[in-house]
Order: sequence, then C-alpha cells, then structure tokens
Amino acid sequence: MRAPVKLFLASSNPGKLAEYRELAAASAQSFAIELELLPGFGSLPEFDESAPTFAENAAGKALHYSRLKGGLVFADDSGLVVPALGGAPGVHSARYAGPQATNSQRIEKLLREMRGSTCNERAAYFVCAIALAKQGHAFAIVTDRVDGEILGAARGSGGFGYDPVFYFPALQKTFAELTAEEKNQLSHRGKAFRKLLAALSGVL
Ligand code: IMP
Repeated sequence: MRAPVKLFLASSNPGKLAEYRELAAASAQSFAIELELLPGFGSLPEFDESAPTFAENAAGKALHYSRLKGGLVFADDSGLVVPALGGAPGVHSARYAGPQATNSQRIEKLLREMRGSTCNERAAYFVCAIALAKQGHAFAIVTDRVDGEILGAARGSGGFGYDPVFYFPALQKTFAELTAEEKNQLSHRGKAFRKLLAALSGVL
C-alpha cells in the first residue's frame, strides 16, 4: 500500500478545507489522500487574485504559493456566471456587492439586476477551477461547471453564497435545498475536485 498523498490547500479557510475533505472521503481513488491548509498561509506574501478567468486565478494562486512552500499545493477559484448579465458576477462573485457586503446583499443585487428577465435570460452556471502545483510547476489545472437557473426569490437554508437563488431543474430544488451529499455529487466543486484526483493519479 502506498503512503497517503498529502495536498496543501492554499487558503486560510477551514470551512473550505472541510468541504474538500468531505469530497475526498466520498470519492473512490486507488490512493489515500490527506488534505491540510498550507502551513503559515496567512503570513505568506498574498497572491493578487485579479485575473479575468477562474482558471488563471486558480493557477496563479497554486503556482505562487507552491514557490513559497514545499509539497503539492492546490488552489481554487469559483463563482457564478450569468450569461445574460455579460458573465457577471463571474470572477467578482465574492465581491459583487462590494468588499464588505454579506451573502444576502450579493443575492439582493443579483435579483435586482435580473428583475424582469425572461426564462432564457435566467440561465446561469457555477464554475470551479482547481490547480495543483509543486515548486512553481503546474501539475494539473481542471475546471467544471453545473448549470441551472436564477430564481426570482431565495429558497432554502442550506449551502452558502448564491445557493438559495440557484435552481437545479432536474431535482426541482435550489442548491440551498439539497443535502450536502447531493450538492457534493452535483456541484462544480465536486466535479472539478474529482477531475483533479483523476489527473493526480496520472502524475504520481
Ligand atoms: P472563492 O472561490 O472562495 O473565491 O468564492 C467565490 C464566490 O463565488 C463565493 O464567495 C460565493 O459567493 C460564490 N460561490 C462559489 N461557489 C459557490 C457555491 O457552491 N454556492 C454558492 N455560491 C458559490
């Protein structure tokens, strides 16, 4: 049996780490995975996450932090894309209503922008890009998405971010009405992470 593969998440967010640990536990791969936050992340020079694409932000972040710390470093960038709004909130999803705004303020702004939208204009998708790097070399960059629609009002109390207004027609539920297992199975993050694990098995 091979030793577990250790991956360091370039983030200071323990919630994000817990989510990735759940995804790793639920996915079947031929090797054991250990996920940890990158040690000392908060005191390292910060990466400026201002690229126009999710993939560029994720890759830039993974490369940057992998040059500062040893080991396999992974980083992600994700967000909501509404084509009828020219791709907004997009890479600005977290700051859509200003840097200090709350989730509900971001949702309010989105609902305001979409007022009067037709059914077609309500099409939206979440994207997640994840990059894996070691000592400044990119080992893998993967992205995936999940398609849905933006509702006219929030529904459900689970999840986070834009989940209460993101409707998934096949289950007739918003992402905030899904169980954690359902969301992990369907979400952009779950799908991208499983792609990363598949890519990883090819480079180990
Ligand atoms: P980041 O990838 O941590 O920078 O997050 C980007 C932002 O996109 C989050 O703050 C949320 O507003 C939004 N977002 C990303 N993934 C999801 C999701 O699964 N549900 C709801 N909102 C999300």
